[in-house]
Amino acid sequence: MQPLSKVVIPVAGHGTRLLPATKATPKEMLPVVDKPVLQYVVEEATAAGLRDVLLITGRNKRPIEDHFDRNTELEQALRHKGAPHRLAELQRPEELATVHYLRQGAPQGLGHAVLRAEQHIGDESFAVLLGDDLIDAGSPLLPEMIKVQQRHGGCVLALMPVGPHEISAYGCAVTRPARTDGTFPITDLVEKPRSDEAPGNYAVIGRYVLPPEVFPALRATPPGRGGEIQLTDALATLARQGTPVHGVLHTGRRYDTGDPENYLRTAIQFGCERPDIGPTLRSWLDHYVRHEMPRG
Ligand code: G1P
Repeated sequence: MQPLSKVVIPVAGHGTRLLPATKATPKEMLPVVDKPVLQYVVEEATAAGLRDVLLITGRNKRPIEDHFDRNTELEQALRHKGAPHRLAELQRPEELATVHYLRQGAPQGLGHAVLRAEQHIGDESFAVLLGDDLIDAGSPLLPEMIKVQQRHGGCVLALMPVGPHEISAYGCAVTRPARTDGTFPITDLVEKPRSDEAPGNYAVIGRYVLPPEVFPALRATPPGRGGEIQLTDALATLARQGTPVHGVLHTGRRYDTGDPENYLRTAIQFGCERPDIGPTLRSWLDHYVRHEMPRG
């Protein structure tokens, strides 16, 4: 089987939960410490061997293109200044991968964004990574999902158990018990069910490895939740029609960057765990919480 090389990252969303920060800056470009969210996601893909990156973009996404392009003026200035470490950081994004761009056009949902990738992907399996979800660097999740897809074919989705009140924010998977290799056969999926109607507690998190059969399924998918074409609905159709859909449990950490509170939690965790700034940040945070934070 051909090794996977392509990844699709939809970045056309408005990021309305993070306004006004996202009025002129794409939410994917907001920094977690000193690196934009999107760079973490692209690094995760390239670490798993996926170096052909297709970004499905929208209006106001120009800063994303600039980030993955060269900035020769700044390069020269840093060379002149003798700042090799900063120069390496500047050049890292453009060296990571070959990045392609396609505009989504009308914002008709995640399924519609993925369908736009059809021509670029052709007849290969590929990964879809959602930028709101960050997965621990070095986590075996994506390499594991790729392995499962290469071994068994079909679709592979990342799952995490969530509480009853959280499931309504996610695609919800109906699974059979785990196989001996730890993967879960998925028999059905429901996009953002009401908590009291959820058919299970496994949430689909933003990592998918998909075969090209997903494209005809997406084309046949009518608008669903929120009037948008949902990837979850197309995958549910494939599962019901007998295409194997496998769930891989993510047991590591996942960080949400899509709303202010989770975004801040993510930034604080990443900062506290960075070898360079972590030790001093942690002691400052500890002091702040104990002595300076307003109570009540
Ligand atoms: C999307 C998917 C949903 C999935 C979620 C993971 O929803 O539609 O099935 O569980 O990502 O983050 P969104 O968060 O874009 O509304």
